[in-house]
Amino acid sequence: MTRLLVTGGAGFIGANFARLAVSRGLEVVVLDKLTYAGNRKNLAGVDVEFHEGDVCDEALVDKLTRTVDAVVHFAAESHNDNSLDDPRPFVDTNVTGTFTLLEAARQHDVRFHHISTDEVYGDLALDDPQRFTETTAYRPSSPYSATKAGSDHLVRAWVRSFGLRATISNCSNNYGPYQHVEKFIPRQITNILTGRTPKLYGTGEQVRDWIHVDDHNEAVLTILAKGRLGETYNIGADNDHVSNKQVIELICELMGAEGYEHVADRPGHDQRYAMNSTKLREELGWRPRYTDNHTGMRQGLQQTIAWYRDNESWWLPAKKRTEDHYRERGQ
Ligand code: NAD
Ligand code: DAU
Repeated sequence: MTRLLVTGGAGFIGANFARLAVSRGLEVVVLDKLTYAGNRKNLAGVDVEFHEGDVCDEALVDKLTRTVDAVVHFAAESHNDNSLDDPRPFVDTNVTGTFTLLEAARQHDVRFHHISTDEVYGDLALDDPQRFTETTAYRPSSPYSATKAGSDHLVRAWVRSFGLRATISNCSNNYGPYQHVEKFIPRQITNILTGRTPKLYGTGEQVRDWIHVDDHNEAVLTILAKGRLGETYNIGADNDHVSNKQVIELICELMGAEGYEHVADRPGHDQRYAMNSTKLREELGWRPRYTDNHTGMRQGLQQTIAWYRDNESWWLPAKKRTEDHYRERGQ
């Protein structure tokens, strides 16, 4: 496999993936609509073939898919809060876009890897010690996670009904460079850098199973190279004991900032995500690199904070607009 079509390659995880794939000698074709979340600058200095366009555009998707060995499908509307304001683009991109790509991959017998999320499994109670496995029943809570669940079901149906050569990975919450300032960790870092107070939804006791974006993308490359066709692999770095409150406090500590503010909670807020990634580790030999100390995040957060300090011109244009929007929602 040498030539990949990377959808959503100008977004956070997709751009980090394109950088990694090119550094490993792979040829990368990017298809990205450049929504508010996509940024051509995320690929600055990376040798990719770039196409601005929509994954729902059948003709374009067909034209690009026929030229590659594999499709790695990252493109999505990805923010839960936005899906509560307006679910329509989530259905269009996440469901119809995935359908469009699957049809092109089927037509041209192209290997397909679908990027999905732990949120398809719903949430766990805060005191529930279980972790999600690949056989946990789907129970999505938000319009975002429901559309991702729908897209996973489409991929499985295309494997079973048409013999599509596909794999799926479901990953937990990512952090790292190039993440949009609407998301929890970059929002707090850039709040501090612009003199704003960090904002914690509700009590902040919710738990996310944080993983560095490079660990996620190494797992995707591993699955592409060695994953069994038709299989799903959970990706997580065993950080399922760190609350949002602890994360915000760690960011404040690392940045020498004091105090944060509790703001309106997210409606339907998922409580706890926790991934069991034993299958990926034991079958394919993947291991996360960012696993230091009890929070598992100090080193990755230090690197991420340094990146946002050094790249103000990348995030500042979106910051005020994003905060104005949050203010309207009391957040
Ligand atoms: P992101 O919002 O940062 O980037 C999404 C990219 O997709 C953007 O570049 C955007 O322009 C592009 N896009 C959106 N609609 C499109 C369309 N119709 N056609 C073509 N391109 C379109 O998202 P992200 O955080 O990088 O997430 C990437 C993928 O990983 C998503 O599928 C998401 O569900 C999944 N995921 C994300 C996380 C996380 O923590 N961020 C965790 C697990 C899985
Ligand atoms: O679990 C994987 C998912 O992680 C991905 O599928 C999604 O694409 C990605 O956006 C992310 O979803 P979350 O909703 O968990 O991420 P978000 O960064 O929006 O919020 C993380 C947690 O932090 C969540 O419990 C809400 C809380 N939060 C968020 C923001 C923006 C705050 O407390 N304050 C904030 O300002």
